[in-house]
Amino acid sequence: MIAANGARVGYLRWQVVSREILDSVGLEEIPANSVDIDILIGEVSYVGRGIGPQALQLLIKRLREDASHPMLGLTTSVHNYAAQRAYRKAGFRDLRE
Ligand SMILES: CC(C)(COP(=O)(O)OP(=O)(O)OC[C@H]1O[C@@H](n2cnc3c(N)ncnc32)[C@H](O)[C@@H]1OP(=O)(O)O)[C@@H](O)C(=O)NCCC(=O)NCCS
Repeated sequence: MIAANGARVGYLRWQVVSREILDSVGLEEIPANSVDIDILIGEVSYVGRGIGPQALQLLIKRLREDASHPMLGLTTSVHNYAAQRAYRKAGFRDLRE
């Protein structure tokens, strides 16, 4: 859960992805054991306040403690500009459109 000011405002979930799963969805260039992340700020009044990028940076720090993950990533719609801006602020870059 993502908490802000003592309230639960969203969540992060993540999973380690295998070679088999990546190949089955055509993501051959992503190395096995990478981490796929999803994020949602579900309280509307907390959207657009920088909480998403901060939560992602905390997760990145935690996941980097395990050196076995060669890549961390997320996917979003090409039309979801807010998500793209938030992910870039957290340090992610575009890999594929
Ligand atoms: C995508 C999401 C996680 C980003 O987290 P966040 O805390 O809102 O991120 P930020 O505060 O950095 O805002 C990112 C961009 O949202 C836009 N934004 C700002 N205020 C906003 C508002 N009130 N409503 C919608 N978008 C807004 C801005 O373009 C902002 O970029 P900028 O600060 O460079 O101008 C969050 O907005 C969210 O959960 N959205 C709905 C679900 C979703 O799209 N999830 C991702 C699916 S892959």
